Amino acid sequence: MSEEAFLQRTTTCGALRACDEGKSVVLNGWVHRDRNHGALHFINLRDRYGITQVVVDDDASAELQEAAGRIKLEYCIAVKGIVRRRPDSMINPDMATGEVEVKAEHIEILSQCAVLPFMIEDENNAKEDLRLKYRYLDLRSKGMTDRIVMRHKIIKAIREYFYKTDFLEIETPTLIRSTPEGARDFLVPSRIYPGKFFALPQSPQLYKQLLMVSGMDKYFQIARCYRDEDPRGDRQLEFTQLDIEMSYVKRDDVLALIEDLFNDVFKKVLDVDLPKTFMRLSYNDAMNRYGSDKPDLRFGLEIKDFPFAEGCAFNAFTEALEKGGCVKYIVAPKSEKKEYTRKYITELEDAAKVYGAKGLAWMKVQEGAVSGGVSKFFADKAADIIKETGAQDGDVILIIAHENWKKCCNSMGAVRNKLGADLCLIGDGYAFCWIIDFPLFEYNEEEGHWEAAHHMFSMPQAEYIDTLESNPGDVKGDLYDLVLNGYELASGSIRIHDIELQKRIFRICNFSDEKAQERFGFLLDAFRFSPPPHGGIAPGIDRLCMIISKVNTIREVIAFPKNTAAMSPMDDCPAEVEDIQLRELCLKIDTPEQKD
Ligand code: AMO
Repeated sequence: MSEEAFLQRTTTCGALRACDEGKSVVLNGWVHRDRNHGALHFINLRDRYGITQVVVDDDASAELQEAAGRIKLEYCIAVKGIVRRRPDSMINPDMATGEVEVKAEHIEILSQCAVLPFMIEDENNAKEDLRLKYRYLDLRSKGMTDRIVMRHKIIKAIREYFYKTDFLEIETPTLIRSTPEGARDFLVPSRIYPGKFFALPQSPQLYKQLLMVSGMDKYFQIARCYRDEDPRGDRQLEFTQLDIEMSYVKRDDVLALIEDLFNDVFKKVLDVDLPKTFMRLSYNDAMNRYGSDKPDLRFGLEIKDFPFAEGCAFNAFTEALEKGGCVKYIVAPKSEKKEYTRKYITELEDAAKVYGAKGLAWMKVQEGAVSGGVSKFFADKAADIIKETGAQDGDVILIIAHENWKKCCNSMGAVRNKLGADLCLIGDGYAFCWIIDFPLFEYNEEEGHWEAAHHMFSMPQAEYIDTLESNPGDVKGDLYDLVLNGYELASGSIRIHDIELQKRIFRICNFSDEKAQERFGFLLDAFRFSPPPHGGIAPGIDRLCMIISKVNTIREVIAFPKNTAAMSPMDDCPAEVEDIQLRELCLKIDTPEQKD
């Protein structure tokens, strides 16, 4: 055997307990801490399972002392020794292995470590790009390791759930035809067919529908998806979905499956009991009451219509109403966490303006009267306003008027979310909720046509089928989103399985029959062959892991993510390629000016 022998571990650095006293063991791991107290030398040895304290006693041989003297932080070493109980005064209750230590008999350096770009802490607090450049080191930290282990457990629990059922796990291709699905496609040039391109799938949407035509009536896949869009905290260029599709189902069947799945996964992974069914809110209610189609229901602070706006002396309110808009308010409760100073109200206003609000009107409630802000326009209505809003002494009524209902709701929602965070109102736990009855179409102001709010394969609700073309804005779809703690966790719909209806939807979304045939011909062809009624959903795995791990970005739960600038600092990609590679693909680069 040519392999170099080394002392191989007999146990991990997280396993030893008081009952192991006296055992001879070998540990392999990295030097996490190294403290030299004169003749006594303490080494904290770390692997992904934990940390064990190793001691080189003062009676150690000269050879052992010398080996211990050579080790440095993050060296990879092997230690052979005897497990012993720590003296009572030295027991560390914060460490799983804190009752014991290993008295070293032999130390072998397996590999040395270059100068570290940052210390390996429980949570590395180096700048994120530095962490990403050395992600393999960053992953050694307890925080990252725990999150990757958690992700593994979640995916394992999901698979176990489906393996108990008659769902089939089926892979779909990742080199596909470019089909518009909302975001921009990543394109892959074909060498064999110069000038032609594959696209990476934004999701397996069409393939899972085709699988229904094939009779694979219950399908799931842990699928990689690719979207060329600007990254955000909860968005990556490449991400993972639990993709699901079923034949012969109605909306409530899909919802029930997901409720059962999440009950099972949360119990297994976190020992948390979720409600058996999740609350349902219509899109309109969610927008009106929480100012968002992904409301955080871990706190209250509901938004309401301000019933004193009509005919009032404050122009901004009356104008909004005259233009068909609305005036909404929220009562910001008196709080020890924040004073409602002008500065703070301006901060709230700024949050609202991001969503199109022109301003944030306010009035303070004090001793049965209203004061400040727009109160002078409502002095005679003070008692009614206080009664209607239920505002207490010290509360502030915050009001937004806008001619556009959606902008009014979203702006108020931004204020609500900021108040929730600033006043520390957001409770612990998991607030799941379904948002249903979404509009099927949205108007694209820039391009001047309707487009699908979700995707073009979702079924309109039956009562709107006759008025699709005459009144697209009012059409509700058989669409559903699952929201968790203010994030859109999953999206899905009952699909169209009627070729003529599908063509009507394409036409409303500005896809002529020819264009639709060119882009989606294979789906339309398949729909000629008796497609079953079907529907599905796709929860985002990264977002689920992020929420469960209580971190703020999905980058924290992905082993090798792209950074906020949509590139990978570690392998420095995207990157140029060799001229010969371009020539093989018959491609020429024609953009000399660099994007900042
Ligand atoms: P949708 O596009 O809404 O639906 O995506 C479903 C879920 O995937 C997650 N997700 C993302 N996660 C990280 N980064 C991204 N860029 C990203 N984009 C989406 C979210 C989202 O709720 N084919 C349909 C599903 C269906 O109809 O069955 C689809 O992909 O958690």
